[in-house]
Amino acid sequence: MKASRRNFIKQGSATLLSAMAIPALSNDLLPTPLPISNGIIAANDENYWQLVRQQFPLQKEWAYLNNGTMGPSPYPVIEAVKKGMNDCDVLGNYGGWESTSAKLGKFVGANEEEIALTHNVTDGINIVCWGLPLKKGDEVIMTTHEHVGNAFPWLNRQMLHGIVIKVFTPASTAAETLDRIKALYTKKTRVVAVPHIPCTQGQILPAKEICTWAKEKGIFAFIDGAHGPGMLQLDLHDMGCDAYASCCHKWMLGPKGTGFLYVRKDFQNTLQTYFVGGGSDNGKWNMATVPISTGAYADTAHRYYGGTQNIGLYRGVDAAIDFIESIGMDNIHKRIMYLSKYAQDQLLSFGDRVELITPTEERSRGGVNGFRIKGFDFSKFYAKCAEAKVRIRMVQENSLNSVRVSTHIYNNTGEVDRLMEVVKKEIASLK
Ligand SMILES: Cc1ncc(COP(=O)(O)O)c(C=O)c1O
Repeated sequence: MKASRRNFIKQGSATLLSAMAIPALSNDLLPTPLPISNGIIAANDENYWQLVRQQFPLQKEWAYLNNGTMGPSPYPVIEAVKKGMNDCDVLGNYGGWESTSAKLGKFVGANEEEIALTHNVTDGINIVCWGLPLKKGDEVIMTTHEHVGNAFPWLNRQMLHGIVIKVFTPASTAAETLDRIKALYTKKTRVVAVPHIPCTQGQILPAKEICTWAKEKGIFAFIDGAHGPGMLQLDLHDMGCDAYASCCHKWMLGPKGTGFLYVRKDFQNTLQTYFVGGGSDNGKWNMATVPISTGAYADTAHRYYGGTQNIGLYRGVDAAIDFIESIGMDNIHKRIMYLSKYAQDQLLSFGDRVELITPTEERSRGGVNGFRIKGFDFSKFYAKCAEAKVRIRMVQENSLNSVRVSTHIYNNTGEVDRLMEVVKKEIASLK
């Protein structure tokens, strides 16, 4: 079966919609808020993680193992969005979203003035891709595992402006991956624009080493960080990237349609802004003095976005960060790693019947595993999982024709077992 990306999104949604009756949220259903954790929570403390699960309106009958596409929000986030929107309408207040930059900055190891609010990862990627001073023949190093959101903006500039894209395939170790990047370097290389964690198989790329190397070579380092925040403890200053685009609607479990772009302070006068409006300026220009000078931009990453934002969504982002911090990012990271290792070990236990395409190297694996069942069509396997009420994702990027399973704090080993039952059954059907 030849299924386009658009088709499989449609198919996936249709399967789900036909199979689900969507319950409305009611205040009576809200669980007791999670107690604030003051220390270490064991990654296998199922009692505690069950309490966490109760904070999510996920349906019991479905094993939702697709956080890599969309992170469901817990009740406190949903409530904060509702309250934020309601307050705005009741009080008639305007603004207030700017404070989320400070909260996000602290969360990812950056300063408030380095964070631009966006609506998704794609916004951030486009700001960077269009804003870089690139000319015909300039080379950009990327992977063969890009999400369309990172691939297409650069391909667009290739078509429109003649930049040259050079690709490598991530290797099974961080060291080899770095070597493959270095091997692509020429005198014309201007940018390395790679995912922190590719959407295809969830491998963690050695972002800090990549950025350090880029600095040595005098080239721009851009990281597509769709899957970083909420899965990994981030310190973007330490990573050393020039820019990092992400969203709050995956591993951060925030409202859908929220994101941010980190732009290193000293890089802001290099990365040109094209999409400007209220807030992108410093308030000191005057129409009588047109044309403006570059000095009229805001002296912060606010220069990269303008106009009215949905305050409810940003109150939801604040609540998502509070929720994460009430559990502890370190505890969350360990639980994610525990569940993904559990899934990885089970997949490996099928021997050569299952082809794991995510590295087993400790530093290169995260909350996502990609795999194929030998001799079994990936889209049929996806459909079999949906029949069993297990939600995963098909991966057609780079013609990988595989599937991807991602596990977050609302999951448990029993849900991973449900997936493995489907794997077992389909392997048996091949005999
Ligand atoms: C690695 C990667 N980059 C970019 C994107 C695009 O994200 P968004 O839909 O938030 O723009 C995704 C979405 O899944 C992704 O996985």
